[in-house]
Amino acid sequence: MSKNIAIDGPAGAGKSTIAKQLAKDLGYIYVDTGAMYRAMGLYFTSKQIDPQDGDKISEAAKDAVVSLSYVDGMQHVLLNGKDVTGEIRTEEAGKMASATSGYPAVREHLTNLQKELAARENVVMDGRDIGTCVLPNADLKVYLTASSEVRGKRRYKELVEKGVEADLDVIIEDIEKRDAADMNREVSPLRQAEDALLLDSSELTIDQVVETMKDMCKRKGLLS
Ligand code: DC
Repeated sequence: MSKNIAIDGPAGAGKSTIAKQLAKDLGYIYVDTGAMYRAMGLYFTSKQIDPQDGDKISEAAKDAVVSLSYVDGMQHVLLNGKDVTGEIRTEEAGKMASATSGYPAVREHLTNLQKELAARENVVMDGRDIGTCVLPNADLKVYLTASSEVRGKRRYKELVEKGVEADLDVIIEDIEKRDAADMNREVSPLRQAEDALLLDSSELTIDQVVETMKDMCKRKGLLS
């Protein structure tokens, strides 16, 4: 039986950085499910479909085949066979993913793929609904969060380091809007699973969060 670790939490909590490192240390595959919703979002953007138009989104979702491949342990996301890994990392793609991820037609296709992968491989999978919907029987579930101020400051620092002009207040506002959208949608909203362990990274470094998660893995017998 494959081993599964589920990490959920709001945007900017550090899920992907932590999950990637943890997967490496455990020898598991890292699955970034947000990237799959972003690829779907990219498809809708390319077709100029209004994210509010549920009928068109549901129809178009049938033509967007998202798949994953791994090159040197790195996840690549393919949209209808084309590698879009580099294209999905924009604010716009994130917003489109958030706006269209509430439609059942979008979720069904992607969650099936996620479940199949987790049944075959040992995975650290991160997202919004992994512990609650995708992998209800995961060996370890963690809800990773941080205050919106801390998440905003981290994002601001990343942008400034890349030479991108940014406004901290706007970033925090955007983060809070995305939290509200992800937490209040009808289908699979972001919430902590009842059996998930809560980890607030506001006052912790990346290494401290990874170490805390490794301790959790040890307690669950996933690491000696
Ligand atoms: O983690 P991220 O920022 O790449 O995710 C982009 C959006 O995709 C997020 O705002 C909501 C959606 N998403 C989702 O609905 N379910 C998941 N398991 C992962 C992401």
